[in-house]
Amino acid sequence: MVLSANRNELFHEAAKFIYSCYVELELSYEEQIMRVKEIEEEIMQSGTYTHKEFEVKHGAKMAWRNSNRCIGRLLWESLEVFDERQVTTVEEAFDKLAHHIRYATNEGDIRSTITVFAPRKHGVDPLRLWNHQLIRYAGYEQDSSVIGDSTSIELTKMCERLGWKGERSAFDVLPLVIQEDGKLPKLFDVPKELIKEVPIIHPELKDIADLEMKWYAVPIISNMLLDIGGIEYPMAPFNGWYMGTEIGARNLADPDRYNMLPSVAKLMGLNTKSSRSLWIDKALVELNIAVLHSYQEAGVTLVDHHTAAKQFKVFEKKERECGRQVTGNWTWLIPPLSPAATHIYHKPYKNDIVTPNFFTQKDPE
Ligand code: ARG
Repeated sequence: MVLSANRNELFHEAAKFIYSCYVELELSYEEQIMRVKEIEEEIMQSGTYTHKEFEVKHGAKMAWRNSNRCIGRLLWESLEVFDERQVTTVEEAFDKLAHHIRYATNEGDIRSTITVFAPRKHGVDPLRLWNHQLIRYAGYEQDSSVIGDSTSIELTKMCERLGWKGERSAFDVLPLVIQEDGKLPKLFDVPKELIKEVPIIHPELKDIADLEMKWYAVPIISNMLLDIGGIEYPMAPFNGWYMGTEIGARNLADPDRYNMLPSVAKLMGLNTKSSRSLWIDKALVELNIAVLHSYQEAGVTLVDHHTAAKQFKVFEKKERECGRQVTGNWTWLIPPLSPAATHIYHKPYKNDIVTPNFFTQKDPE
């Protein structure tokens, strides 16, 4: 029997995945052969194949391990995987997403978690999420300025078109926008009690509290596609926990995000007239100290960038010992604060794409 080009490619991807997955799980050579044969027949008959639950679970972990932008990969094996491929309705999906948020948040003791929904089948995505993260703040354009998170402006407009109304604060959590194939997307408010947030305070600079900054506890990326053995899962939200700089050196600091450095510098009494006073750098450091301190005080898991880099070094060593090449995207791996103080800065990484992996994908139609 000859498979068509597409089916042949899928079979090739599947076989590659099964071999590496089964070897890692120490399953026998006979089992590999049998499973690959079975998959070949399924593809021949239906054009696709269905993962066993343990294949989804290990495949998702491998995808994390292969994520070139992620500095936190040492913990790839600890990923909790919820297999929700049977879900067909947006209402049920919302239940599962609420469960994901509650489980992952764990009152601050964050658990790395992924929930895998139904795969693409014959080009159709049964379910899709429009949100970039399950919890993220809205952004509103106002004349020349922005209230809230500028990265959310488009999605916020869409939510408003679908009838949602935010309070227009800088920290309105967007509703979940879930879509069933062929239908209009539906909005679901995330219950307040599920959203853990951390007010930003500073151990010495007490005035920082007056800026009324805060951030949410858990970053749950929800718009990427998970590819395991050629099977594409377009809805598979996943989370780890934050590295402090993501919030302190980017979300709250970037001039086109919350742009808080001028306000921090002001309360520190710095000379913001001359860049040579390094007021930006000083304010950045204090804002990042504030983020680390605040999450600690709130009992919410978060890692500093020096510790994260050390953990990444252990990951590199472990991978070498397992005979696997570590791929990485240097531009993403280096922290935005004091990058040259980490070992990552001083060596090259090959940005080769290995599967299973997570991929960016187009917004749903
Ligand atoms: N950088 C993104 C943010 O600030 C989150 C990306 C995922 N981060 C993580 N630590 N898992 O919201």
